[in-house]
Amino acid sequence: MNLPDLKAAKKRTDEEVEYVNLDQKYDKNTFANQKYFIRTYGCQMNVHDSEEIAARLESLGFTSTDELENADIVILNTCAIRENAHEKLFGFLGRCKHAKKDKKNMIVGICGCMAQEENVVNEIMTKHKYVDIVFGTHNIHELQDLILKKNKKQEINVYSCEGKVYENVDYKRDSNIKAWVNIQYGCDKFCTYCIVPYTRGKQRSRRSCMIIKEVEDLVKKGYKEVTLLGQNVNAYGKELDDEISFAELLQKVSDTGIPRVRFVTSHPWDFTDEMIDVIAKNDNVMPYIHLPLQSGSSRILKLMGRRYTKEEYLELYKKIREKVKDCSITTDIIVGFPNETEEQFQDTLDVVNICKFDSAFTFIFSPREGTPAAQIDDKVDLKTKEDRLHRLNELINKYSLEANKKYLDKTVKVLIEGPSEKDPNKVFGYTETMKLVNVENAKDKIGEIVDVKITDAKSFSLDGTLV
Ligand code: 5AD
Ligand code: SF4
Repeated sequence: MNLPDLKAAKKRTDEEVEYVNLDQKYDKNTFANQKYFIRTYGCQMNVHDSEEIAARLESLGFTSTDELENADIVILNTCAIRENAHEKLFGFLGRCKHAKKDKKNMIVGICGCMAQEENVVNEIMTKHKYVDIVFGTHNIHELQDLILKKNKKQEINVYSCEGKVYENVDYKRDSNIKAWVNIQYGCDKFCTYCIVPYTRGKQRSRRSCMIIKEVEDLVKKGYKEVTLLGQNVNAYGKELDDEISFAELLQKVSDTGIPRVRFVTSHPWDFTDEMIDVIAKNDNVMPYIHLPLQSGSSRILKLMGRRYTKEEYLELYKKIREKVKDCSITTDIIVGFPNETEEQFQDTLDVVNICKFDSAFTFIFSPREGTPAAQIDDKVDLKTKEDRLHRLNELINKYSLEANKKYLDKTVKVLIEGPSEKDPNKVFGYTETMKLVNVENAKDKIGEIVDVKITDAKSFSLDGTLV
């Protein structure tokens, strides 16, 4: 696959910002009484994109259903970050094909990061003709037109990676308590293993005034929490000549008075002292930082193009711990980067032993076609990589449990979100530090931030009771 050369840095100008007003041109009667089903894979960005897709479908009159077989339109929002995404996509497509046998007019749509991959689109066009529409991450805004245009033939509309910034986008938000707010699209970091800069394009930051307007609007609607969203949030604004920094943006969002502000994902290289200060001094900026390590070996980090060493990561970690009281820090780690040695893997374990992360997402390196790391001749076998992942997970889980046990008998603030999935007599919510808590005696507290006494601690969740 030929990936476009996106590295040539280019400053963006305001003329490139297109303002899209939803709902002005579509008729809600077009698909009245018809149902939509969306399946989302991947990161929070995809989850939020699906909220946009839902709003677009509803602007044509579709209403949602939880049953694929009942749907008149099925949209699959895909993720390309690791290879198993392919199996998930084609497995799910099998279900759609089957459902379409009984429901001939069902529209099947594919979007998301895999729809930006040329080989995937080609495969769909040649082998999966029952897929009706394909659209990329750059043209979600054309979904209604694609559906209306569809006329017994496959409609494919996937842009190259240039992308734009769309404003006044409508979302059908999954929650009326907490909301995602995009602050930036794409990524300029080009870590050598990562497909994201190719599927989502170069970094494009939204204008801060538009972000603040969106947050103010959410405050007025009674939202309790916003999460600022981007692949590399703390590089916010860097491609623009005259935009504020991420630290300043965070301060402005905090000033709107929203009870809770979070952000994902930040890159250690862009983590400034100003940011740490903003987190430390504002009570509504949550003491929770997802800080991807990827590897503890400086040599591997260099090969990954991460721009920091083991020592620099540890220094940053220490600084955050010193300045932000009771902060929880989570991470992402990849094992088995091509030709990773046991000694280099031990460096990763070493960092985990020092940082004692609250939790971590761990992955085996997955070669993504067209990325530099996928071209390295890798001599390490899968069994060795699986063994490393297993050892790493054991350590991570040990520290997760340790971190959670520190909460026992403490009283913490929890934003209650809804009924607990595991126990209908309980509700669930998150602490300021992003710990999941199942809470007793708080059924009437949904949408409120309440004091909860922690009664039990497991590796992945806490139990508590309303104070
Ligand atoms: N293989 C394995 N893990 C990957 N990630 C990104 N690309 C790859 C890949 N090719 C992981 C990184 C990133 C997280 C979202 O996914 O750890 O932080
Ligand atoms: Fe991928 Fe690196 Fe960008 Fe994260 S910072 S999206 S890992 S290229």
